[in-house]
Amino acid sequence: MLSDEQKKLGRRNFIKAVATVPPTGALLWKTSGMWPVRAGIIGIGGQGGVLMENAPPSHMRISAVCDIFPPNREKALKTAQERFDPNAVAYSDHRELLKRGDIEAVLIAAPLWMHEPLAIDALNAGKHVFTEKAMANSIDGCRRMIEAARSAGRHLQVGHQRNANPLYQEAYQLIREGVIGDVYHVRSLWHRNKSWRRAVPETDFDPSPWGYPDMEHLRNWRLYRKYSYGLNAELGTHHLQVVNWFTGKLPKAVYGSGGIYAYDDGREVEDHIYVTYEYPEGLTYTFSSIQTNAFDHFYEQFMGTEGTIILTREREAMLFSEGGQAAATELKTQAMGDAPLLEASESRVRDAAGSQVTGGGKSAASALRGYSKELEGFCRTIRYGSENLCDGPAAMNVCVPMIKAGESLDTGQKVDIPRNLYWT
Ligand SMILES: NC(=O)c1ccc[n+]([C@@H]2O[C@H](COP(=O)([O-])OP(=O)(O)OC[C@H]3O[C@@H](n4cnc5c(N)ncnc54)[C@H](O)[C@@H]3O)[C@@H](O)[C@H]2O)c1
Repeated sequence: MLSDEQKKLGRRNFIKAVATVPPTGALLWKTSGMWPVRAGIIGIGGQGGVLMENAPPSHMRISAVCDIFPPNREKALKTAQERFDPNAVAYSDHRELLKRGDIEAVLIAAPLWMHEPLAIDALNAGKHVFTEKAMANSIDGCRRMIEAARSAGRHLQVGHQRNANPLYQEAYQLIREGVIGDVYHVRSLWHRNKSWRRAVPETDFDPSPWGYPDMEHLRNWRLYRKYSYGLNAELGTHHLQVVNWFTGKLPKAVYGSGGIYAYDDGREVEDHIYVTYEYPEGLTYTFSSIQTNAFDHFYEQFMGTEGTIILTREREAMLFSEGGQAAATELKTQAMGDAPLLEASESRVRDAAGSQVTGGGKSAASALRGYSKELEGFCRTIRYGSENLCDGPAAMNVCVPMIKAGESLDTGQKVDIPRNLYWT
């Protein structure tokens, strides 16, 4: 007999599973004996560490880690041995990791310029690939990655984690159902008050064999064009992906302005950018990212003829109605916490009228759950062929306007984006 406590837990697990797992996955879960997916990870600095902390051991066992920088490699090995596999092994050269026949999938969290070569090597070695966003630093590079995945018959997923965030999935449904009417304008921003420059550790390590002339370039790769597309790649692509997804449209032109306003310290990328994307059928999306004022921090705001949805910091959603009802409606602050999604969904029509508050209380949401859920999704795609949360074509269609925005920022000219540049 189950105790009351066990029943409560079982019911809660079921509601969560219904809310978050596609039906086939829920039925097959833990019945196949094929879990977890055996994985390796390449590039374990800030984000690689986040992925390792959030990868669910029930779905994924990380048995191999690779980083060129010894302290990061050693730290990652310790995490892998403690969290996933006491026999995990560390490598400095990704090609050695890829020789491992027992590794089915790799996670890539190296700097942007390495996403394409690492992913293609891994796909050619027969591994499934999850690579961090942005997908690659060239349009042709994105195409090569998609083609490599197709010819290898392996899955390629890109780490735009908002796709896996229940809050965004719910907001997507609301917008598609017309709750905020027709959307002609989206605005988003990512504002911070810091230089983005990291301290460079004192070390004898020479990264030049790996393409970084010194530790400054390895640590601060985001500030140099060889490795990075600056603020728009690192921050802007998160929002651009959501706008493409929610609207089902792709930008046809872009205009960017900005520059190095405050931190003229040898960096090659802007510290302030203002980018306007023109989508077809009357939709303009504006994005700004500045580094001298953190007011409002970061959010996406969808402005429709019937209302406005604001998604802030990957953890809160608000819905405002047009037409005199001034009060904000808190859509669901706990969608990423323990509250079942279904409760909030039932009252969505009343929410839309701006008269009902649901999901109240303090936000227990954790933006980190998005990472966990995207990796769960990656594993389900590998095991069951479940929907890929962000496949190569979707991610490439984020990179195309990001790269064209870079051209506009460089030239000061508006840049058209021909339809045939996209993967359609
Ligand atoms: N999805 C998100 O929210 C999110 C957040 C932060 C970063 N990112 C992405 O993650 C990636 C990494 O960013 P980060 O902040 O972790 O950078 P980082 O500099 O902290 O870490 C990069 C790591 O890669 C290693 N590395 C570099 N070249 C390598 C190579 N050839 N082989 C193996 N290891 C190599 C470095 O030594 C370092 O440990 C970037 O693409 C970034 O855009 C995504």
